[in-house]
Amino acid sequence: MNKHILITGGAGFIGSHVVRRFVTNYPDYQIVNFDTLTYAGNLENIKDIEKSSNYTFVKGDICDAAAVEKVLHDFQIDTIIHLAAESHVDRSITDPLAFVRTNVLGTATLLNEAKKYWNGNYDGKLFYHVSTDEVYGSLGETGFFYEDTSYDPRSPYSASKAGSDHLVMAFYHTYHMPVVISNCSNNYGPNHFPEKLIPLSINNILNKKALPIYGKGENVRDWLYVIDHASAIDVILHKGKIGDTYNVGGHNEWTNIDLIKLLCKLMDEKLGNAAGISEQLISFVKDRAGHDLRYAIDATKLKDELGWVPSVTFEEGLSKTIDWYLENKDWLEQVTSGNYVNYYKSLYGA
Ligand code: NAD
Ligand code: TYD
Repeated sequence: MNKHILITGGAGFIGSHVVRRFVTNYPDYQIVNFDTLTYAGNLENIKDIEKSSNYTFVKGDICDAAAVEKVLHDFQIDTIIHLAAESHVDRSITDPLAFVRTNVLGTATLLNEAKKYWNGNYDGKLFYHVSTDEVYGSLGETGFFYEDTSYDPRSPYSASKAGSDHLVMAFYHTYHMPVVISNCSNNYGPNHFPEKLIPLSINNILNKKALPIYGKGENVRDWLYVIDHASAIDVILHKGKIGDTYNVGGHNEWTNIDLIKLLCKLMDEKLGNAAGISEQLISFVKDRAGHDLRYAIDATKLKDELGWVPSVTFEEGLSKTIDWYLENKDWLEQVTSGNYVNYYKSLYGA
């Protein structure tokens, strides 16, 4: 095997697309998916590749130093793609310490065990940390996040991700560990857990439930199709410069209200509804505490230095995403039963 790659969080939304891409495109790489299977982890996401000879799943927690040490030794890991995290801002407002534990302590544990295992022999080694543009804080109506934009996180989620990014750079500067970081904008696509705006709205339209829009729906996000994020991770892993950061984004800004109106239109067309039916479900609700106004990535460095650009337009990506949810209603039903019902009630009250 050419590389022995540990992917953390590979049963989650983005991780599952990264696992699939590497298992499929690189038969000479051994891929080990290390995931503790929280509410967001679902082995169904990668069922199609689970029998591949270059793939292994290991259930484990990144905060458990002994488990991390064992998986690094057992599979002679030389490359880590670190995606495991608590990832939802609203949950971080309810339970900030869970985010500090997984995102800060978990990342520190992973770094520390990799340092011990690699023991100063960094030839052919890489610690690739997958992070978010939310570490840069909130933009006004103009401007972009660049790789050298100062960190200014405002939610417990983004603060814990910022902490993890700082730890990664600390291991680079202090111990010369080969690291690379990418900070990506909002992802959307198949297998997205229906706590985030797009899959939650798809699920609610299917169930004729209200579409909760925080505040006035004027907040702006820059959306990237998850399969394009996986391709960016592939390019950065192979061609990125050690110690560098790369911003990943779609140059695709939408206010939440415009995005939901487009989603409603596409859903009505696909479901054969009369035009305008789904839009009637839109309901403006109390704003999120500390709600960041706008995120927008400048991904010029990734384009100019590594040649990466997104492959699908938003309309194409959104259409494919809706099709996936319509074809995978069992998946949606499975993840919205059980604890999801209580989560939904506690946040939205119904
Ligand atoms: P997700 O919540 O869908 O999945 C997270 C995965 O990590 C799950 O499979 C979960 O079981 C696993 N996990 C959680 N805690 C763990 C622990 N202690 N040990 C081992 N595994 C654990 O998240 P996602 O949306 O796929 O995000 C993946 C990564 O990408 C995160 O680091 C996130 O910060 C980052 N990111 C996400 C987005 C986005 O729009 N979703 C954008 C930019 C960056
Ligand atoms: P989300 O998908 O949670 O991603 P993030 O907070 O990481 O950007 O939210 C995207 C945007 O949609 C954000 O501005 C908050 C808003 N939003 C709603 O208006 N209603 C909702 O029910 C959710 C989950 C989000």
